[in-house]
This record gives sequence, C-alpha cells and structure tokens, in this order.
Amino acid sequence: MTLLSKLPDVGTTIFSVMSKMASDFSAINLSQGYPDYDPPEELKERLTWYINNGFNQYAPMAGVYALREQCANKVKTFYDCCVNPDSEVTITPGATEAIFCAINAVVHTGDEVLIFDPAYDCYDPAVKLAGGIPVHIDLTPIDYSIDWSEVSLKISKRTRMIIINSPHNPSGSVLGENDIAELKKLALKHDLYVLSDEVYEHFVFDGAQHFSVLRDPELAKRSFAVFSFGKTYHATGWKMGYVVAPEALSKQLRAVHQFVTFVAFTPAQHALADFMQSSPEHLTQLPTFYERKRDLLCTSMSASRFSFKPSAGSFFQVMDYSAISHKDDMEFSEWLTTSIGVAAIPMSVFYKNKNRSKRHQVRFCFCKEDKTILEAAKKLIDI
Ligand SMILES: Cc1ncc(COP(=O)(O)O)c(C=O)c1O
Repeated sequence: MTLLSKLPDVGTTIFSVMSKMASDFSAINLSQGYPDYDPPEELKERLTWYINNGFNQYAPMAGVYALREQCANKVKTFYDCCVNPDSEVTITPGATEAIFCAINAVVHTGDEVLIFDPAYDCYDPAVKLAGGIPVHIDLTPIDYSIDWSEVSLKISKRTRMIIINSPHNPSGSVLGENDIAELKKLALKHDLYVLSDEVYEHFVFDGAQHFSVLRDPELAKRSFAVFSFGKTYHATGWKMGYVVAPEALSKQLRAVHQFVTFVAFTPAQHALADFMQSSPEHLTQLPTFYERKRDLLCTSMSASRFSFKPSAGSFFQVMDYSAISHKDDMEFSEWLTTSIGVAAIPMSVFYKNKNRSKRHQVRFCFCKEDKTILEAAKKLIDI
C-alpha cells in the first residue's frame, strides 16, 4: 500500500531537535519555551492532594465546573468580558488542543485561513488537516507588526478565519488597540472567525496592556480566545489550557474536542481552580516577574555583538547576529549549541518561506532561573 502523508512537509519540530541537541552537548537550553523552575508550591500541593484523595477519573467533557468558573471570573476581571462558564468556557489539554479543535470546528474543505509569519508551528498543520488552505502573510520585518492593508488584499471569498497571536511567539511583539480595531473592521466586513492565541496574555511589559479580543463585545462574538495554564503557572508539562468562545462556537469546538481527547487531566483542573481562587495575585505579579528576566538577559547581553530591541511581551527575545556570522540561521543555531554551549531557535523555522540565508536572527527564551540567564549571557557575550 502506498503511504500518502497528510503532512508531507512536517518533520520533528525544531523545539524537540534543539532541546535534544542542547542535552547531547550539555548546552544551556534557551531554545524551547519552558521554565527551569517549578509551579508555585501551593499549586503542586493541591495537585498531589487531589491525586491522593480520589479525583482520578474523567472530568466532565467541558472541564471541571469550578475551574471554568475561575476562568470566567478571570476574563471578567482582566477584560471586562462576561461569559457563561457552562456554555462558553472549555478546558483543554493545553492550548495546542484548543487551537486544533477551534480550527477543525469551523474550517471546511477549501476554506482559507490567514496566518502571520513568523508563526507558532501548530497553526498551519491544523488548518491543513481540516482540509483548509493556510494563507501566510509576513509580519513587517522591522518590528513584527501587521500590515493591515496587505491583510485586506489577501482576503478572498474563501477566507474563513484569521489567526492572531499576541504577545507573539517568536518575536515578542504585542498588538495594540489600533490592531484590534483593524482586525474588527475586517472580521466584520468579511464575516471571518478569529482565533486569538493569547497564551502569553500576562507577559506584557513596560506598563503596556494586553488587548484581548474579549475586550470588544463584537469581536468576542466571532472569536475563539485561547489561553494556557501551562505558561501562566510555570507548568508547561501539565498541558492544560482553555478556550473562551460564544455558545454556538463553543458547541462546535466541543464536538471536536470530545473525539480528540474528550477531557483534560482531572486532578490538575481541581488544583488550578483552588489556586486561582486562593492566589489571584499570581497573575498580577507575572508582568513584573518576566519583565525583570527580560531586562536581566538584555542588560547582560548589552556589550555583546548581538543587536536587539527588548521584547514587548512573551518570554522570548529575538537577537540579530549579522555582526557575528554570515552562517544561515540553522547553521548558526547548531554552532551556538555545539561550540558555544547555548541553544537557541533559528527564526526561519517560523516562516513558510524559510529564506534561511537572509534571516540572521535567533530566538532566546528567558523563562529561566536568573543564574541560567547569566551563565548563558557569559558564554554569548564574547563571540
Ligand atoms: C504561541 C503559542 N501558542 C500555543 C502554545 C501551546 O501551549 P500549550 O503548551 O498550552 O499547548 C505555545 C507553546 O509554546 C505557544 O508559544
């Protein structure tokens, strides 16, 4: 039998490749986006309590109600958005599953979906598996902003969805109020669904604020807003996320979710519900927590030959190495890992049009212990 791949262009993700290389060469891993510190003690304690006290079977399909209620409270507090925890919040095993289900809920064969490059890697394959056609648009090369006039030109009769991601992985750029206004104009005019990947919602720096699509009632009516407990609570390995969407969209999303995973990990849902209730300050402390780490990386690299503009959000910092090397970004990242001892992600992997030799940027991740950041900077400063 001939095996016909549904995703012929997809190999092992770069995150696994670079993390393995980092481990093989004992390099400091600033490549994959996960912390080298633990979730809060109280959250870990609640998780083990629920495991030890009989909360180990399937949760309700849409998620433990107490957690959905906490999520609804959170979006009310942060985005002044009232949602019904019963019908408009769904708990998922990570934001990745939420994204896959949202796309598969509304994208039909031949529908076009707008994706901004550089892009997080799970959007394009999910669109293709839904039978859709990803239409990639490059963010502007200087500051990774969206050129809305170009977006307007790329919209056709077949465009069904637009995917945005702010704060942005990998660039660290953040959409402003004006971007959300432009998005709304186009979404309403062309009757588009919006998938808003907001997993770094609390990591916005320098006094700026996060403009969730949920802040705008008309936009919220046609949007899936996706969040990640993994990012927010330093627990990426728990793979816990959630989606906020109006009832009709949530219903379609759940129709997919129930046959992909059905439910997320039960004990973690109870633990997160308790922790969100007891420790709301965790969320308000996050911008400062990560801004300090960004500053530590940027300050300690200021005398290096890398050039960069401090990230506006997320826990990633893009740096340009043109003054150091003419290698393409894949070769440079491999060399950085194997010879210098610091792993990074080459920016070209986030583009459909890789154009490797022209991109001289790598992404460093700063959700790391201070000592890890300082050790990495020490190795990078003299090259
Ligand atoms: C932009 C973006 N979206 C979604 C995800 C996936 O989040 P989760 O681990 O909760 O599935 C990530 C993880 O790195 C991400 O960077």
